Amino acid sequence: MTLLSIENLSKRFSSGGRDIAALKDVSLTIADGKTLGLAGASGSGKSTLARILMRLIPPDAGTVRFEDEDWLTLSGSDLRRRRAKIQMVFQDVLGAFNPRATVASVLDDPLRIHAIVPKAERPKEIAALLDRVGLPASYVARSIREVSGGQRQRIAIARAIATRPSLIVFDEAVSALDVSIRGKILELLVELQEERGIAYLFVSHDLAVLRAVSHRIAVMDAGRLVESGPAEQMIENPQSQAARALIAAVPRLVIEPTRDSAHDV
Ligand SMILES: Nc1ncnc2c1ncn2[C@@H]1O[C@H](COP(=O)(O)OP(=O)(O)O)[C@@H](O)[C@H]1O
Ligand SMILES: [Mg+2]
Repeated sequence: MTLLSIENLSKRFSSGGRDIAALKDVSLTIADGKTLGLAGASGSGKSTLARILMRLIPPDAGTVRFEDEDWLTLSGSDLRRRRAKIQMVFQDVLGAFNPRATVASVLDDPLRIHAIVPKAERPKEIAALLDRVGLPASYVARSIREVSGGQRQRIAIARAIATRPSLIVFDEAVSALDVSIRGKILELLVELQEERGIAYLFVSHDLAVLRAVSHRIAVMDAGRLVESGPAEQMIENPQSQAARALIAAVPRLVIEPTRDSAHDV
């Protein structure tokens, strides 16, 4: 079943007297419980698409249907109620959180704002969320700046799943991490998806990362979606120059298994 469907999305920015077409007529769909990898070089429009989905900026044209609703026209209490259903994890978690905030407050906020569990049950829920992302319950008392980059990404993932979303948007969420930590986080994300049926839009310039998590991959180039298909097929038989350039940037890509071949989905 289709969870999200984007049609003919366009967005221009003007800055310093220049007019930039960040998105040109982009259409794509994401299936329930599946991962769409969104690939593309820096500046190709990936984050603009993610920000439009999160309702951080409006598009100039186009529509988004999410769970059979017109997502971009939802407003007021309807939007507040539905917002919990799409969560986002950024690359720069320090920038997204107040560095003095405690882990407890970072996880308590979404539970309270979206009334996920009654107040008395929130501490237990926070402990369960930490446990699920592989962190000890004692972390509740730490401040965000006291934990490592990989641990901060785990807390960001815990916060994202706290509201029981049906879609999580990851924008370069593992790009700043060391390769060994990155691999562990990608494994956690695959497990969480299989356990909870959450769909992912996984934005990355790195096809090795996308290959580990994606069922399908779409490729952006200068604001246009130039190619999309099953992950394995896209990597083995790229159709666009943009896809070939991304593949060439990862020398070991072809000998590592894709998610579908590794997990037999
Ligand atoms: N707020 C903005 N003002 C002006 N230009 C922007 C803004 N946001 C993005 N852009 C431009 O839009 C294009 C796409 O950017 P972005 O979506 O961030 O690409 P990506 O995430 O693929 O690197 C780039 O040329 C970028 O400079
Ligand atoms: Mg970006």
